[in-house]
Amino acid sequence: MNSMYRQGRMKTDSVNEERGAIMKTLILYATKHGATREIAQRIADRMDDAAIHDLGQSNIPDFIGFDCIVVGSSIYAGMIRKEAKVFLSQNADTLGNKKFGLFLSGMDATRGKDFFDSNIPQSILQNAKVTSFLGGIYDPQKAGLIERFIMKAAAKQSKYTDTIDDGKIEEFIEALQA
Ligand SMILES: Cc1cc2nc3c(=O)[nH]c(=O)nc-3n(C[C@H](O)[C@H](O)[C@H](O)COP(=O)(O)O)c2cc1C
Repeated sequence: MNSMYRQGRMKTDSVNEERGAIMKTLILYATKHGATREIAQRIADRMDDAAIHDLGQSNIPDFIGFDCIVVGSSIYAGMIRKEAKVFLSQNADTLGNKKFGLFLSGMDATRGKDFFDSNIPQSILQNAKVTSFLGGIYDPQKAGLIERFIMKAAAKQSKYTDTIDDGKIEEFIEALQA
């Protein structure tokens, strides 16, 4: 546990004390090799009452008990994962009535805004309290042969790389709770 974690936690605690209520948050993520789950878990670890759930699994928890919903997906060839796309389109109305945030996981931070605009309808984006590209993990040991080939050819990447940005995770949570 690093010092950023402790600072973030103290800030979160004091915000909640002032408001007298703890925000219950459900973090739904779509992942292929686990990086987006890692980000979802890091967000949850910094919040007081957060549950995480894989959108690739059935039995998504009922939203009713949650004040806030976070949806995150990784990016492959410029696209969010299908289960995230389907979830967002099927639940756009319900999300519009909640406090909600969106995050993406990928290695190309320079295209973060493009990935949101090209994958997620404006009608959903405009209702989100915060949208953020939070970095990712490329692990050649988890990638298949074709994935390794693509990453080497297109992104010149062949080594394990972790760009998950804890500072941006803190900012994401602060914006969500503001
Ligand atoms: C074949 C392949 C294609 C990828 N395409 C993109 C891309 O278009 N943009 C990007 O930012 N990251 C891209 N990435 C990086 C992944 O989005 C990143 O590793 C992410 O953290 C993986 O998350 P996951 O393990 O939750 O699926 C790609 C990775 C692979 C292996």
